[in-house]
Amino acid sequence: MRFTSPILTLLLPGTCGILLHAADPVPPPAVPDTQSKSGVTIFQTVCAQCHGSNGEGKIELKTPSIAGNPAWYKNTHLANIPEGRRGHDAADPHSFMMASIAKALQPEQVKAVVAHVEKMPAVIPTGQNREMAGVSMDEGMRLFQERCMECHRYNASGEMTFGSPPLTGLQAWYLEDQLRKFKTGKRGTAKDDINGAKMVQMTTLFIEDDQMLRDVVAYIMTLNPEPEVAKEPEKKPVEGNPFEGKQTAQR
Ligand code: HEC
Ligand code: HEC
Repeated sequence: MRFTSPILTLLLPGTCGILLHAADPVPPPAVPDTQSKSGVTIFQTVCAQCHGSNGEGKIELKTPSIAGNPAWYKNTHLANIPEGRRGHDAADPHSFMMASIAKALQPEQVKAVVAHVEKMPAVIPTGQNREMAGVSMDEGMRLFQERCMECHRYNASGEMTFGSPPLTGLQAWYLEDQLRKFKTGKRGTAKDDINGAKMVQMTTLFIEDDQMLRDVVAYIMTLNPEPEVAKEPEKKPVEGNPFEGKQTAQR
């Protein structure tokens, strides 16, 4: 792992205590304002570093798009971390990285930032976040309709009562990675992770190989709005309020 941003160095496991002591003498621009109760501020100073200023996610850091994702799922995700259900495995550096952040935040800060992220406009995957080669849409559709739809809904919009999140608005490579994590037990195998266990079962029983995995992801991508009407996420600096004047999420 090699990161250029100083925040990432600070946030590596073991040193994340720094987050809680913002007054300590550490390089100024990298220190997140973790005392803040404002969802906007927490997002900009902490989350945006990895998830992008529009919450669009970054392929180079393997971070998912989180903008507009429902609060119930983000809350589960962020609660899963301190309870060790996600990000528990040091062999999974991306989850581990995210876990060190979530553990540094107070519950009311998590609530504030989750409420803010939910209101951000959902990002429609385009380009390298969407395109996949050598896949069969028909096979993907068949698998999705037979095995995935009952929990994630026909349009992949998710179902809170089942704890199954929306699968739209997420990058293709992220969906592939998560399915592989479930299949290899890097995600969903911790004790008490009832929701994760459902996916471990699904991927083990019904996703036989990487081709099937990629086919189903390719089909899920078609459930997003057309990329022609989708705009590339705007590139804006983290300073200031990048969300001012933005419309609310289209869902
Ligand atoms: C150090 C980089 C980093 C920072 C800072 C960070 N995240 Fe993450 N986040 C990640 C990575 C990497 C993943 C993907 C983990 C995985 O693959 O399991 C992730 C995953 C998530 C997910 C799960 C999404 C899904 O669809 O399962 C949510 C929600 C999330 N982050 C929210 C946040 C919020 C809110 C903040 C700010 C408080 C934040 N993250 C800060 C790196 C980061
Ligand atoms: C029995 C219900 C159920 C079925 C069937 C099901 N899922 Fe899931 N899925 C879930 C739940 C619950 C979660 C949330 C797991 C968690 O909280 O970690 C989930 C999570 C996921 C995620 C991770 C999303 C994220 O944001 O990190 C992906 C990708 C996914 N499912 C894809 C699929 C695919 C593809 C199929 C069909 C092969 C499928 N699921 C079938 C219940 C289901």
